[in-house]
Amino acid sequence: MATLAPQLQTPSTETSSGQRLYQKAKRLIPGGTQLLSKRPEMILPEFWPTYYTQARGIEVVDLSGKTYKDMSLMGVGACVLGYADPDVDEAVKAAVDNGVMCTLNAPEEVWLAELLCELHPWAHMVRFARTGGEAMAIAVRIARARTRRDRVAFCGYHGWADWYLAANLGKEDALDGHLLPGLDPGGVPRGLRGTALPFHYNRFDQLKAIVDKHHGELAAIVMEPQRGQAPDPGFLENVRDVASEIGAVLIFDEITTGFRMTTGGIHLLLGVCPDIAVFAKGLANGYAMAAVLGTGEAMQAAQSTFISSTNWTERIGFAAALATIRKHRRENVAAHLTMIGNMVKIGWERAAKYMGLRLHHDGLPSLAHFHIEHEDHGNLITLFSQIMLEKGYLACDQFKPSFAHQHDHVSEYLEAVSDTFLTLADAVAWGDVALRLKGPPAHKGFYRLTS
Ligand SMILES: Cc1ncc(COP(=O)(O)O)c(C=O)c1O
Repeated sequence: MATLAPQLQTPSTETSSGQRLYQKAKRLIPGGTQLLSKRPEMILPEFWPTYYTQARGIEVVDLSGKTYKDMSLMGVGACVLGYADPDVDEAVKAAVDNGVMCTLNAPEEVWLAELLCELHPWAHMVRFARTGGEAMAIAVRIARARTRRDRVAFCGYHGWADWYLAANLGKEDALDGHLLPGLDPGGVPRGLRGTALPFHYNRFDQLKAIVDKHHGELAAIVMEPQRGQAPDPGFLENVRDVASEIGAVLIFDEITTGFRMTTGGIHLLLGVCPDIAVFAKGLANGYAMAAVLGTGEAMQAAQSTFISSTNWTERIGFAAALATIRKHRRENVAAHLTMIGNMVKIGWERAAKYMGLRLHHDGLPSLAHFHIEHEDHGNLITLFSQIMLEKGYLACDQFKPSFAHQHDHVSEYLEAVSDTFLTLADAVAWGDVALRLKGPPAHKGFYRLTS
């Protein structure tokens, strides 16, 4: 695995180049960045490096030239193979050399559709987009076009689009945002109120109540097939049955779960097939690519509405996705992610126990996270990221393994984690967690309804 030139870590309390650029970004770009999870405030306000100049394997170089090992989000879950994967990049370079945009279509589009249908034998047709949120909006539009109905029952997080944020439109402005805290629905037409109806994962009774109340009005049931918790026996089967019964389109959002537990959607392992499945993120190892695949019956409805965009035909995404999937399958990447993720989860648990910290870990091994069971949890996690950064790690309470993470990386990381947990336990004992922070605590994210 290629590595970047080693750099000495010099923990510093001065404002870093990344933080200075971020201050400028906040004046030029509303919110500072295009993705909530990439705001430094979400992990380590005022100290997170924020920008990178190079990323390869699991190593990241920031604007000040410091190198870190990424034991955190790995491109917010996009880079399942690791950063700058040589096989994917080679395919992309070939696409660039041959022209990435043309009056005619790129044949890779058809090859990718064929490969995705081969991996998901229940699916027969595919549409492509570039981001998860827009692909979900396409899937919901197709479901509404197919059923000629408006309402959607959903569970989990599904991106920025109106159909989804409509769930946060209250009766009055003052009530906006109460269902999914952290997601503000400003700008979403109030006329959409009541069209997105949430239920919690594993709460079939909640979905059933929605179905009973809105029988004949539901266009779709939208959910991740699994996220934090495993499905209770019969839960997914019941959802499948009720969707078929009422003629709603069952949409599985595999934007984050796809290509993490198997080559394709996690639903392949769970044995329940949707009418439509949506992929993005891991599909092309970080290149912008998204796919909406479904049964012929469901997908044909795309022809009865208007779904069309120039940049959805650009070649790089297709080339990158083909190369990613082929390598994923060839190298059994999913098994590697599970193995590395389990190592980390067990390591967190052991280190916490040894250092006297109450910790609970959760999630699929390839989408692992932990919670420190202490009232000062928010400050403790911020302190964890602060200390780990000084030790040369991008780290937080989540770990998304990649094919580039090796045993040695995990062992070294867990040594650093043990050391850090010792400091956290000490801070808990002295009651001075907040005092040890160099900046403010990390902001909270949003609430997903899945765990
Ligand atoms: C389950 C799920 N759906 C949708 C999205 C939105 O995808 P994107 O950020 O590519 O728009 C995400 C992103 O985190 C996700 O996890």
